[in-house]
Order: sequence, then structure tokens, then C-alpha cells
Amino acid sequence: MREQLAKIREEALSRLSAVTSSAELEELRVRYLGKKGEMTAILKQMGGLPAEERPKMGQLANEVRAAIEEKLSEAKRDVEARALELRLRAEAVDVTVPGKSVKVGHRHPMYIALDEMKEIFIGMGFTVVDGPEIELAELNFDRLNAEEGHPSRDWSDTFYFDREEKVMLRSQTSPMQVRAMDTLPLPIRMVAPGRVYRKDEVDATHSPMFHQVEGMVIDKGVTMADLKGTLNTVVKSLYGEDTKTRFRPHHFPFTEPSCEMDVQCHKCGGAGCPTCKGEGWIELLGAGMIHPHVLEMAGIDPNVWSGWAFGFGLERLAMRRFKIDDLRLIFENDVRFLEQF
Ligand code: PHE
Repeated sequence: MREQLAKIREEALSRLSAVTSSAELEELRVRYLGKKGEMTAILKQMGGLPAEERPKMGQLANEVRAAIEEKLSEAKRDVEARALELRLRAEAVDVTVPGKSVKVGHRHPMYIALDEMKEIFIGMGFTVVDGPEIELAELNFDRLNAEEGHPSRDWSDTFYFDREEKVMLRSQTSPMQVRAMDTLPLPIRMVAPGRVYRKDEVDATHSPMFHQVEGMVIDKGVTMADLKGTLNTVVKSLYGEDTKTRFRPHHFPFTEPSCEMDVQCHKCGGAGCPTCKGEGWIELLGAGMIHPHVLEMAGIDPNVWSGWAFGFGLERLAMRRFKIDDLRLIFENDVRFLEQF
């Protein structure tokens, strides 16, 4: 029995020294110290020993058991330490690996053109105002002198929400003139950019949704000369100091007199080319002196106050600014196109 115990001790300790996993460890624990293990088997044989031998063997068995137990917990610590080491190594973050670069976008070319425009007007003391795209026909038409029966009110041109044709998607930013007159204190200098809607088919120069920028000044003693002076200043800061402009008579229901403003073609310098369709001039905007009746409807005395207003298409301005020849490119939002600006 003495030899048996010595053999178990030697074998168990050497096996435990070579253990690499906690599964192996458990297997050895069961094998030597378990209920059906080798140590239990030895202890069962104790009964057959002479009485004087038993305490000695008992003590020896206890020593062997204690030695195995100690080695077991030592091996357990080693296995756990090694597992932790491996996990730390596997989960380590390599801070030298190059990162994924974040794609940063930039402003849409149309908003670049709009921001330039706003800068210029803010520099001249104008306020930038915003208003609803869903508008009352009363403000889009009636308060702008376009009464019942005016051709622009036809349902084939305008998106109405109701049969009574009282609520609509605004067809121009000009109702912002009325909103400004109704809400802002006099004198007024404002610009109002925003979306407008008309029943147009999409092609290279048309879209059922596009952007306009409205501008308006109301003060005492304001004349057509102020309108021309201001617009010329704006156009020169956009297109260069030697830009030439011309004003042609036109008609709008809410301005009198009304005009359209052209700029001399930047491509051919006025000689005529495909860009200006052989005209030498490119139409830029509609404008005019605010009709006295429009002032009156807003409760502003036209004998004391006068003003002017203009409105232009923002896409056209951006297209000319960035030499884009198809309106659809502005709205398609193809990144390959937009990245160029
Ligand atoms: N609202 C007009 C249009 O859409 C433009 C305009 C604005 C004309 C202001 C005169 C004054 O054509």
C-alpha cells in the first residue's frame, strides 16, 4: 500500500504539472480525488490492514491527498493565468492600424450660390426671411393684384389643395412681400429665398419644383433708380465689376412699372453665342416698383411710402455661376456630379 500511494503521488503530480486546460484539470481531479477515484479505492482497502498499520497508512494517505490538492490548485491558477494571457493577446487593439476615413460632404452648388447671394444682401442691410410653401391663394394672388380670372390662377398651372382653390403650393416667392408688409415694421429691406411649385413637365430648363429668391425694399422716397443701383451692385459682385446689365419693360400684376433685367452674356461678351441663344443677353430676373394698390391692401400709405421688389430663379443663377447646362443635374443628387463643386 505504501508503494501504491507513492506511485499515485508521483503520477498525479507529474500529470498535473503538464496540464494545459481546465477540462484536463477536472479530469485528473475526478481520477485521483473523485468518489470513484484512486485515493478512494486505497482508503477502502484500509479495513484489511492490521490495526497498528492503519493510523500510519491513514496519515500517509492524508499527506498524499493534501499534496495532490495543493498541486491541483496551483495548476488551476496556472491554467487560468494562461487563458487570461491568451485572451488579452487576442483582444488587443492595434492602435497603429490605419482608420476608416469618414466621408465629409459639402454644400450643394445651389446653396453655395444662395449663400453668396445672402452675404451680398446682408452686407447691404437686408434681413433674410423664411415663409411657408403651403400658401393661401389670397396671399399668392389676391393681395398681389392677381384677382379671380387671372391666367396664372388656372388649376392647370397651380397645385391647389382644395376645390375652392383657397390653399395651394406657392407658385412664386412674391407672397413673402405681403407677409413682410403684414409683419415687419417699416422701413423694410428683406430677401426671402425658398421653394416654389408649378405644373411644369421636367426638362433641361423646367421642373415642377424650383427655387426663387424674392427681394423687397419699402421706405420713404424709394425710386426705380434705387432698384437699378442695388441690382447692378449685386450682379457686379456676383459676375465681376465690368458686367453690363439692361432693363426691359415687362408686366407683373403687383409692380408698376415692371421690368426684366438681363446681363450681358459672359461667354461671348454680347456678340451672340449658343449660351445666350444668339441674343448676347441672358434674362436674370423680374422686378418693378410695388403697385400702390398692393401697398394699400397691406395698410401702407402709397403717398408716404414707396418700394421695389424683384424675384429670380435660384437654379438658373447657380447654373450660370457653375456652368451647368441641365437643370435636372441640380435635383438628381448624383454624388459624382455634386463632388465637382
Ligand atoms: N414673382 C415673379 C415671377 O415669379 C417675379 C417678380 C418678383 C417680379 C418681384 C416682380 C417683382 O415671375
